[in-house]
Amino acid sequence: MPEGRPATGTIAIRPGTLEDIPALVDLLLAAYQGLEEYGEEGPAEARHYLKWLRRTCKEGFLVAEVEGRPVGFIAACPDWKDWELGRVLEIHEIVVAPAWQGKGVGRALMEEAYALGRAYGMALAALWVGERNYKARQWYAKLGFREIGRWGDWIRMFRPIPGAKGE
Ligand code: ACO
Repeated sequence: MPEGRPATGTIAIRPGTLEDIPALVDLLLAAYQGLEEYGEEGPAEARHYLKWLRRTCKEGFLVAEVEGRPVGFIAACPDWKDWELGRVLEIHEIVVAPAWQGKGVGRALMEEAYALGRAYGMALAALWVGERNYKARQWYAKLGFREIGRWGDWIRMFRPIPGAKGE
């Protein structure tokens, strides 16, 4: 695979399955290196967390593949109850393998999640991000998310879903 952005169409996004979990464990632990305070302690915890995400998000547990290899995933619940925002598309987790970051994989996963949120009639997307995860916070800001609050070490961010009714 050449360096840089993959050609349009080479990133395929599909539902994640239980068979994906071992590859996603490796991907999650690799992507959280240096951010361990916000990640999972080890492979067993990561496997447990990924199974919870898949069970909880169902339709919104999506894997990005390039040439048949998982390079990222998103876990998004399209109808989540937030105490302050009401019903939202909740982005529980998004992770791209370090070697594939900065090539449009994260954006492609977010766009699939937005489409799911629109299909459920949601107007807002929301997420929690670690306070010292500056890279992800900047990335979310670039994608149009705004900070609206915090809980301990976690920052709450949200944005209107692009193309949603009332945006
Ligand atoms: N700050 C600002 N802009 C950025 C950054 C950054 N840190 N990184 C990339 N961008 C730009 C890209 O250049 C691109 O711009 P363009 O579309 O105008 O060319 C755009 O943002 C889209 O970036 P992608 O390449 O799609 O992003 P990527 O595939 O790298 O995914 C992600 C971003 C998911 C944050 C990835 O870096 C990652 O896995 N990080 C480690 C794990 C993590 O922190 N996940 C988020 C935890 S919080 C939660 O899950 C709710």
